[in-house]
Amino acid sequence: MQTNTKQKKILVTGTAGFIGYHLAEALLKGGYFVVGVDNFTPYYDVRMKEARHKLLQKNKKFHFYKISIADYAALEKVVKKEKPDVIVNLAAQAGVRFSLKDPWSYADANYLGTLNIFEVAQKYRVKRVLFASSSSVYGDNTKTPFSESDATDHPMSVYAASKKGNETLAYAYHSLYGIETAGMRFFTVYGRYGRPDLAIFKFTKNIILGKPINVYNQGAMKRSFTHVDDVVRGVQSLIEKKDLKYEIYNLGGDEVTPLVTFIKMLEKRIGKKAVMNLMSIQAGDVPSTIADTTKARRDLGYRPRVSMEEIVVDFVDWFLENKAWLLKLKEPKQ
Ligand SMILES: NC(=O)c1ccc[n+]([C@@H]2O[C@H](COP(=O)([O-])OP(=O)(O)OC[C@H]3O[C@@H](n4cnc5c(N)ncnc54)[C@H](O)[C@@H]3O)[C@@H](O)[C@H]2O)c1
Repeated sequence: MQTNTKQKKILVTGTAGFIGYHLAEALLKGGYFVVGVDNFTPYYDVRMKEARHKLLQKNKKFHFYKISIADYAALEKVVKKEKPDVIVNLAAQAGVRFSLKDPWSYADANYLGTLNIFEVAQKYRVKRVLFASSSSVYGDNTKTPFSESDATDHPMSVYAASKKGNETLAYAYHSLYGIETAGMRFFTVYGRYGRPDLAIFKFTKNIILGKPINVYNQGAMKRSFTHVDDVVRGVQSLIEKKDLKYEIYNLGGDEVTPLVTFIKMLEKRIGKKAVMNLMSIQAGDVPSTIADTTKARRDLGYRPRVSMEEIVVDFVDWFLENKAWLLKLKEPKQ
């Protein structure tokens, strides 16, 4: 039995991914043991995943298994051997737009993988399972900001439906086996080593190269952009939260930024004007995702600290320092 916070062992899935990498790094810094799992899917250039993984591997308290969470036997071996105190399931096929192209790829990681995580947790008595959900579960709700008590029965994409499915599955495992569980609805997360399929990466790259950027919904999209460090702090609070049954939390940023304002901030930091290709909204996408974080503030002491301006500065400076290899990455599949 673990007696000391510092000795807790956390199984994080998706550690070669953007949020998983940052969470694992923060946990290792905080003295936890981290068991990482990832299968390096080729949705975006795996060189980005390898770069993150290389940084984690430097730490002796990081044990890694290259397996798919959709492979129950492989996952069971890891959990049986490592006996984690908590599982944080971040592995997934991400991306709203790609789920229109290849909806099948969401079945493995998001549906089957999440089922396997809960099944293995109940079998090996892992007390707590935290998992990534998404603001996309709010579908085309027009009431903003989005609150956890709002209806989420109308997902607009296969990706959003898979995340809603994860939330209901978690409830079933909580009621059947008493697993302490929380679904974390993330809202457009940005930061260093960020995903090459997300707007901040694609925009920064194209502005540097003088190539046009696709600006959907004529730039009238609004987002609660969140810095990855704030998300990580939210997940850490949930790992340590004293009482947990079944909960859903919005973990989003505080500032709501229209897309055009965001592009202006990028132009300023990069020192170059963007060539904008104004387009209509894409199928599956929603014009506004704005977080009401009252519940996370109350229960977790969640306080997003990184401003939108700081998110842009942090990302652009990291990109410029690393542009030699970042500009060589293949275009993501979406
Ligand atoms: N980044 C965001 O803005 C955002 C917003 C809302 C929700 N989310 C959710 O947060 C989680 C983490 O997202 P991210 O941005 O780090 O994405 P990411 O794609 O960078 O990371 C996901 C990782 O999971 C791995 N993976 C995929 N299928 C797997 C499988 N079957 N077995 C093992 N590993 C597998 C991938 O190789 C990848 O490294 C995901 O569940 C995502 O849906 C992210």
